[in-house]
Amino acid sequence: MIIARSVAELQEAQKTLSGTIGFVPTMGALHKGHHALIQQAKKENDHIIVSIFVNPTQFLEGEDLDAYPRKEEADIKICDLAKVDILFMPTIDAMYEEDELYIAAPARRGYILEGEKRPGHFDGMLQIVMKLLNLSKANNAYFGKKDAQQLALIMQMVKNYFMDVNIIACDIVRDDKGLALSSRNVYMNEEEKARALSLSRALKRATNMIMGGELHAEVIKEEMLKVLQEADKVEYVAIVDRAFNPLDKVEIGNTIILVAAWVGKPRLIDNLWI
Ligand code: PAF
Repeated sequence: MIIARSVAELQEAQKTLSGTIGFVPTMGALHKGHHALIQQAKKENDHIIVSIFVNPTQFLEGEDLDAYPRKEEADIKICDLAKVDILFMPTIDAMYEEDELYIAAPARRGYILEGEKRPGHFDGMLQIVMKLLNLSKANNAYFGKKDAQQLALIMQMVKNYFMDVNIIACDIVRDDKGLALSSRNVYMNEEEKARALSLSRALKRATNMIMGGELHAEVIKEEMLKVLQEADKVEYVAIVDRAFNPLDKVEIGNTIILVAAWVGKPRLIDNLWI
């Protein structure tokens, strides 16, 4: 595996590759969710590039940029064992200059739900993803469905800017109890992790209701909020279509049910695609 820490090193390393490229962008602290993305990318491409970059522009003032878990040594081992071809770990200076051109998230889809709670987050996220996709020269890029709104906005960016890359949406990976894996789960103690299960339980409750014939969004959300009482603070429960328009009634095959809540230190998100 080649480790590239600058754009020039990445470009030099890319000369050793021929065939299709699968790209997995991450912020490190790799867990089984990232591993699943890498494995899927490996199955579908000749070569794999993984990036690890804790992108400062997608953290808001007061968020956990400095405290964000960094596990460089372990991450390098995981990528090496997974037979990643190139691990791109750039410095901030390699990725940004002082007077940058900015990409803005769309006015509606970028400023509801996560975008409303974290205004500006998606601008920074799209900015770095655009750079990383361009640099990787990937044929296919892999993103988890857990960040459903991020995924939708990346797909929109690729469409709106006519970018030549396939965005592959990958299933959420959960621990054996149902907690969606996230690098921020390390912030929780055991008691908090048990309460964090209320997010996946609320989504399960929604599934059961839908399977029982209940399609009214308000009724489903009300029930979900009851299950979510174990969380410290619920930020939102939302039922939207795949284009992130709010729905009054669940549309089978075109619905995402989303939840965001604080449990202990981390703010957790989870969702279910119906
Ligand atoms: O989902 C993430 O880890 C990040 O938002 C991403 C896509 C790597 C961009 O920094």
